[in-house]
Amino acid sequence: MTLLITGGAGFIGSNFIIDWFKNYSENIVNIDKLTYAGNLENLLSVNNKNYKFEHGDISDANFIKKILNKYSPRVIINFAAESHVDRSILQPSNFVNTNVLGTFNLLESTRFYWNKLEKSKKRKFRFIHISTDEVYGDLSRNEKPFSETSKIKPNSPYSASKAASDHFVQAWNNTYGLPVITANCSNNYGPFQFPEKLIPLLVVNALSGNFLPIYGDGKQIRDWLFVKDHCLAIRLLIKKGKVGEVYNIGGGNEKTNLEVANDICTILNELSPRVDGKSYETLIKFVKDRPGHDRRYAINSKKIKTELNWRPRENFQTGLKKTIKWYLNNIDWVKNIQTGEYRKWIKKQYGTNR
Ligand code: NAD
Ligand code: TYD
Repeated sequence: MTLLITGGAGFIGSNFIIDWFKNYSENIVNIDKLTYAGNLENLLSVNNKNYKFEHGDISDANFIKKILNKYSPRVIINFAAESHVDRSILQPSNFVNTNVLGTFNLLESTRFYWNKLEKSKKRKFRFIHISTDEVYGDLSRNEKPFSETSKIKPNSPYSASKAASDHFVQAWNNTYGLPVITANCSNNYGPFQFPEKLIPLLVVNALSGNFLPIYGDGKQIRDWLFVKDHCLAIRLLIKKGKVGEVYNIGGGNEKTNLEVANDICTILNELSPRVDGKSYETLIKFVKDRPGHDRRYAINSKKIKTELNWRPRENFQTGLKKTIKWYLNNIDWVKNIQTGEYRKWIKKQYGTNR
C-alpha cells in the first residue's frame, strides 16, 4: 500500500514524511516540482527502501497519470503549493498556476484513477487537501476564532488561490463523489521551514546579526501550530477523518508578531548569546507594512479535538525552543539554501542584504 505525497520536499511535507516513517512502514511516493521552496536535503534522514521520490509538477496531467498508474496509491495528500503571501503579492500568477490549476489537474487525474479502482479500494481511497486558515480572511480582536462554517473571505492572492482550490476539492466530492477531506490549519513553525516566513527569518537574521523586520505596528496576530502537531493531525485524518468534511487545525497559541520576535530573542539570548553582549531585541526594526495585511487569524479546533481526539503536544514556548535549537544545530542547512536566489528575494523584499 502506498501514500502519494505532493510537495513533500517542502516544509510541512518533509516533516510529514519523516514522522510517517517513525510511526509506520507503509510506502510513500513524494512528487515535487522542486521550486525554490523544495529541498531534497530535508529528506536526507529518510533512508528507507519504502520511500521514493519522483520529480514533477502537479499541473502536468501526463506525469500525474503515470505516477497514479505506477504506484496505485490508497491516499493522496496534497501539500504542493506556492505558500508565501509576500511572493503572491509580487508574482500572483505562480499561485494561480500551482494552487488553482495544479490542484484542479490533480483532482481530475485522481478522479479518472479512482473511478477505475475496484469497489473496496474505491471506498477506502482518500484525497486529503492541505489548506490554510487564511481562506477565512481577517478577524478583529473580539471576533470568535474561525470554525469550519466561517465565511470564506480571502484577502491576499495566496489565500484567494487556496480558497479557490478548496472549492474545487469540495466540488469534486459533491459532483463526482471523490472521497476528499480538507484540512485548514493555522501558521506552522518548526524544523526545515524556509527562512522567508516570520519565525525562521527572524532566527536566521538574528544569528547573522541582521535586523529583525517587523511589518507595520507588529500587533498582527497569528495562531502558531508546531509542524509535528499538524502532521499528527493529518495522520488522524487519514485514519478516521470523515469524507467530505473540513477540519480546522490550530495550535491555540495566539501571539502578536512583536511577541513572537521578543520570545525568539529571549530564547536566543539564553541559547546563543551575542558576542558583543547586547541583547537580540536591539535588532528589532519596524518596516513598511504588507499591503492588505490581515490583522488576526485564530482557529477553533473543537471539531478535530472531539471527533478525532487530536491534541497538540507542544505549547508555543516548548515548540519555539525546539525550533530554535534545530536551527542552531543545522546552520549548514540554512547556509545551503541561502543561494543567490534567496539573497535576491531578501534584497527585493527588504531593500537590503541586512
Ligand atoms: P512550502 O512552500 O515549504 O513547500 C511547498 C512544496 O511544494 C515545495 O517543495 C515545492 O517545491 C512544491 N511545489 C510547488 N509547486 C509545485 C507544483 N506545481 N508541483 C509539485 N510540487 C510543487 O510549503 P509548506 O509550508 O510546506 O506548505 C504546505 C502546504 O500547507 C501548502 O499547501 C500551504 O498552503 C499549506 N499551509 C502552510 C502553512 C504554513 O504555515 N507553512 C499554513 C497553512 C497551510
Ligand atoms: P508569514 O510567516 O509570512 O505567514 P503569513 O503571512 O502566511 O501569516 O508572516 C507571519 C506574520 O509575520 C504576518 O503577520 C506577517 C509578519 N511578518 C513580519 O512582520 N515580518 C517579516 O519579515 C515577515 C516575513 C512576516
